[in-house]
Amino acid sequence: MAAEVRGVVAMAKGEPVQVVTVVVPDPGPGEAVVKVQACGVCHTDLHYREGGINDEFPFLLGHEAAGIVEAVGPDVTGVAPGDFVVLNWRAVCGECRSCRRGRPQYCFATHNATQKMTLTDGTPLSPALGIGAFAEKTLVAAGQCTKVDPAARPEAAGLLGCGVMAGIGASMLTGEVGPGDSVAVFGCGGVGCAAIAGALLAGASTIIAVDLDPRKLSLAREFGATHTVDPSSGDVVEAVRALTDGNGADVCIEAVGNPTVLEQAFYARDLAGTVVQVGVPTPDMRIDLPMIEFFGRGGRLKPSWYGDCLPSRDFPMLIDLYLQGRLDLDRFVSETISLDDVEGAFHRMERGEVLRSVVVVR
Ligand SMILES: NC(=O)c1ccc[n+]([C@@H]2O[C@H](COP(=O)([O-])OP(=O)(O)OC[C@H]3O[C@@H](n4cnc5c(N)ncnc54)[C@H](O)[C@@H]3O)[C@@H](O)[C@H]2O)c1
Ligand SMILES: [Zn+2]
Ligand SMILES: [Zn+2]
Repeated sequence: MAAEVRGVVAMAKGEPVQVVTVVVPDPGPGEAVVKVQACGVCHTDLHYREGGINDEFPFLLGHEAAGIVEAVGPDVTGVAPGDFVVLNWRAVCGECRSCRRGRPQYCFATHNATQKMTLTDGTPLSPALGIGAFAEKTLVAAGQCTKVDPAARPEAAGLLGCGVMAGIGASMLTGEVGPGDSVAVFGCGGVGCAAIAGALLAGASTIIAVDLDPRKLSLAREFGATHTVDPSSGDVVEAVRALTDGNGADVCIEAVGNPTVLEQAFYARDLAGTVVQVGVPTPDMRIDLPMIEFFGRGGRLKPSWYGDCLPSRDFPMLIDLYLQGRLDLDRFVSETISLDDVEGAFHRMERGEVLRSVVVVR
């Protein structure tokens, strides 16, 4: 029987979110219902509320979640009730042209639940990134559930479901940071700090954190930044060059979603280096680069969707590193809150007070 649960919904563009009753159908073929234990507040949730992603209101927000599988559809074999899972937004299809070419990390036809969760009047909800986990329960495609070691704390584990994975992957997978590399990370929120943690895991020897907010720069140091740069105190590109023998960094990661910052990352890079853009732009943003600079600097400019991760490969591995004390996921959890405080958490995020507010569902 369909369940009625509390969930955080953005009803209309720019309006404060509301906690309302959400109807969660029983899982059909290929689906699972997950009892959400914890879900981080990501900047992308705010982008949804502001209409920056699309206009398919109402949205059921929340997508960085961990929980326990409660029920699965008749044909589901990959997960079972009782499994501890991190939810992902890359349930690879195995059949699209990217999957067929052996590149499932770019899958162009990822799976989501087929049925809709709704409001009590039957209005269908658009779950953020096909997840919608600011709710006591959510309905997803079974492939969106990645089993990990249940010894992990849900508040920390769930963060791998989006921003932290995107940041770690931006360094380790998209940027292919290697031992001895110099890395500059522009924007040190949850995603940028995760990129710093990823650069450290990959063996980077110089890790430069760039952020306008001194609180973020001190957090960046805790995650492994060796140097910090505040753009308001001078030319960022010159500062990064000065810290890399005058050359620029091997890998520059844009983790804000801002064309000026992308330009800084482009020029702060060494010859034949890599620029990774993991920050999400809005449709109005433009970049304008002299073609001779694009060509003359060589290297690679790479957008990073979800850190180019494969959840089935990367989530269990990163949870193991966390449990071994080699990846401090707990440090991303600035505060734990209830479903009723998501709107407040958006404001704290905008004021730069938190890396991640994490909703704990009891
Ligand atoms: N590519 C993906 O798959 C993916 C996944 C998750 C999030 N994201 C995106 O990554 C971006 C960062 O997310 P977050 O959760 O870390 O956000 P956040 O708001 O916590 O962090 C952004 C940081 O950028 C800093 N900043 C702002 N303007 C700056 C500037 N001009 N120069 C330097 N620093 C500046 C802020 O002080 C803040 O610390 C967002 O655009 C988000 O949507 C992308
Ligand atoms: Zn595919
Ligand atoms: Zn996210």
